[in-house]
Order: sequence, then C-alpha cells, then structure tokens
Amino acid sequence: MDATTLKATKYFVRQYSDQAFQCFESRRKKIMKLFESKSCPDDPWKDEEIEVFLHEIAMMDSNNFIGSCGVGEREARFASQIVARRHYYMGHGIGRSGDITEIQPKAAGSSLIGQLSNCMILDLLKSIGLPSLKKCIIVPLATGMSILLCLRTLHSSRPEAKYVIWPRLDQKSCFKCILASGLVPRIVKNVDTGKGLVGCVEDIEKEIESLGPESIVCILSTVSSFAPKVPDDVVNVAQLCKKYNVPHIVNNAYGIQSPSYLELIEKASKSRVDLFVSSTDKNFMVPVGGSIICGFEAKIVDEVGKMYPGRGSANPSMDMFITLLNIGKKGYLELLDERKKMFIYLKNELEEVSQEFGGEVLETPGNQLSLAFVFSQFGSLHHKFFTEIGSMLFSKFVMGARIVAPGDSKTIGGYAFKNWGSHTDESFIGYLTASATVGVKKEDIDSFVKQFKTVLLKVSKHINQKFVCEVFKTK
Ligand SMILES: Cc1ncc(COP(=O)(O)O)c(C=O)c1O
Repeated sequence: MDATTLKATKYFVRQYSDQAFQCFESRRKKIMKLFESKSCPDDPWKDEEIEVFLHEIAMMDSNNFIGSCGVGEREARFASQIVARRHYYMGHGIGRSGDITEIQPKAAGSSLIGQLSNCMILDLLKSIGLPSLKKCIIVPLATGMSILLCLRTLHSSRPEAKYVIWPRLDQKSCFKCILASGLVPRIVKNVDTGKGLVGCVEDIEKEIESLGPESIVCILSTVSSFAPKVPDDVVNVAQLCKKYNVPHIVNNAYGIQSPSYLELIEKASKSRVDLFVSSTDKNFMVPVGGSIICGFEAKIVDEVGKMYPGRGSANPSMDMFITLLNIGKKGYLELLDERKKMFIYLKNELEEVSQEFGGEVLETPGNQLSLAFVFSQFGSLHHKFFTEIGSMLFSKFVMGARIVAPGDSKTIGGYAFKNWGSHTDESFIGYLTASATVGVKKEDIDSFVKQFKTVLLKVSKHINQKFVCEVFKTK
C-alpha cells in the first residue's frame, strides 16, 4: 500500500492520515534516493525498513506475480516455507546463462538487488581508498574460485599464454586456484625486508624475461596475508606489468578492512592492476560464499561476468545488500576504526605476554591485520612441540590462531613447499599468528591472551621435564 492509496481510503481523520502519509513519504524518498544515487547510504536503515523493502522487491519476481503460471524447468518454487522465508520469497538467483551480471527477465526484484548491491559496494570502496575504481561485481563464489574465474578470463584473451607468476603465499586456496584453472604456476620466493616477507620483485622480472611476456597469463600478487608475510610490493609489480604488458591480478582476500591496503592497490592501479578480488565474508561479516571482483576498467570486469557459466545464487548479493543498508557507510567506517584499535590492542597484549613468558612479537609494520609471536624462548624445539601448543589452544576454544612449526612440508598438485605455512624455505623458529579482523571484540582478545598465557605457563613449567619427553615419545 502506498501513500496515495492510504489517502484514498478515507478511513482516517485528516490529522492521522497526514501523519501516516508523511511516514510513507519519507520511506519512499529514502528508497528513491537509493535508486537514484546508486550509492551506499551514509546512515543505517532500520531492520523493519529493510525487511518491508525486501518483501516489496520480492513482488517483482515472477514466482510472486498474482496469476502467474510457470511451465519451465526453473520457476523459483519452494517446497519449504522455511526456505522461502529465508530467501524473502526470491528464488530465481541472479544473472542469465550468458552473463552473471545480466538482468534476469523472470526476476526483476532479485536482479535489482544484484545491480544495486554492486553499485553500493563500488561507492563504498571508492570512498574508503579506491577513488579510481570503475566496476565491482559480487559473485556467488568464494575468493579462490573467483580468482580462478579471473584467470580464465585473462587467459581467454591470451590463449597462447599458460604461466601465472605467483609470489609464494602459504594458503592452499590461493595456490590451488591456479592449478584448478589449468594454468602453470611459477612460484617466486619471498625475501625478508627486515619488516616482513615480500615476493621478490627482481625474481618476478627475471621470470618475465626468461618465460617471455607473451607466455604469461598474469602475475598474481597478494596484499592480505598472514604475518610475517606483508603485502607484496604491488606498486613495483604493477610497474613491471606495465613495462612488459603482462596482466596483473591482486588477491586482496581480506584486505578491504584495511584502508592502507586499498590505497596500495589504488597506487598500483596507476601502472597496472587488471582485477582484484576480495571476500565478502572476511570483510563484511556475512556467511561464506561470495566475493567481490573489482577492476579499474569496466570492460575487464564485464568480461569476467560473461565468463561465469550460468545463473548464480543471489545469496551473497542479498547478504551484502542487507548488510550495507543495515550498517550504512558510517557503520562500516566505525567497524574499521574499531578494528584498527583492536589490532593495536592485540599487539600490546602480545608484547606483554612476551615480557612475562619470553618470545617476541615480530615487527612486520606492513601487515595491518596479522601478527606473529615467535617462540624464541623455546629455541628450535621439535615440530611436535609447537603443534602441541596449537592443540592446547584449540582445546581451549581459541579459534583462528595458527601455529607455524618448522619442518612442515606439503605437496600441492605435485608442487613441493618446504616449511609450509611460513611462506619461505629458510629455517625459522616456531611461531603463532593471530589477527585482528573486522568485528573482533576486546573480549575475544582478552580471552585469547588469557588462554595463551595458561598454555605458555604449562609449557614453560614442563619444558625440561615431562612435557618434552612425552612429546618426543609420541613422535
Ligand atoms: C590470502 C587468501 N587468499 C585466498 C583465500 C581463500 O579464500 P576463500 O576461502 O574465500 O576462497 C584465503 C583464505 O583464507 C586467503 O587468506
């Protein structure tokens, strides 16, 4: 029911209907502003405003038309009302078989959500560090799969090329996406700059020269990573890409939450960044399943959209749509601000732990999200000793802290990685990584530090006695 209908009912005395009319009007204006500006609102919308809006949008999808009859094989039917409610009665998904960004004729409502959420995220990213960005699409694929899609897209315009130059980053999905795309990785070692590990730019250039630029699909560099790796030198990598005319993809999985990472990508884009990819869940606290593919030229992002085979789930777009309306730009900026404070808090707390129990917090100033605590007090003990610390923390419900122990090797798709987890072949002392990412609370850090101290106390007490003996015995 809109304001005009309300007036027409003549049920109310004038004064009451005027008030109700104003209410409808202000909501209508808010919606019109969103349609016209295509930007993320500054102020948050209330839950009930969003829910009414979603129900209205749902009425634009064919399965909700009065008198509609579907005789196709896919008509957005729901066997369960729980599922229907969970999706606000929208079941058509987004896109068409030829393009994930195209309007789906049977689903004007779902398509509207897809289009608007893409515009809203573009606006948000432009305002927090990427003013030159031209296009973003939210796709129903997590980061690794989206990078795969980007690789296939770049490959389609360089069919003779087969190599992807990849500065090492010890996280399986970002390596597997190269293998799954059918391309051939060329792994570049990281070098210790004294401020963290960075993919060696000289080696990248040597690879380009020895393979030949035309045989390279792209350089896949990484910005967000676990300490002691810090962002790859994307600005210099981008200059190489420009010099040799080689495409450049940046893996920015969880880097939207650090404006300084976005500024790095913006700076690199002045030379060459074709695409970068960020996760929706890691940066916006929505369920796993989506990512944002972004480019500084609309054309290349459009090509990625066309490469996506078939329609896709509307869930990631809808979750982003709801979240951005619900927190507004101001809410997101507050979250980023809080995260930054929590990162400093985590670092200070870990430094206090090191004063009490030994060990040290590595200085990796380029890494704005993740910290490494080196167990230097234990020296070079056996691998099992460090993993035991990890198990003890896990059993105390500490989630997300990673123990990196010397001597762990891994083979992925026939490629052997020495010291897997550490991003380097060089020998090192075992360490723990912990991150302060968006949404983390002071209580999370306090509980982690409390449990970490308990574990360290236990380990330190028994270091020369039973504990180590048992560890070695169980080997
Ligand atoms: C740097 C990096 N790239 C890629 C991924 C893979 O992300 P997803 O699980 O969203 O595919 C991760 C996951 O942690 C990551 O840290």
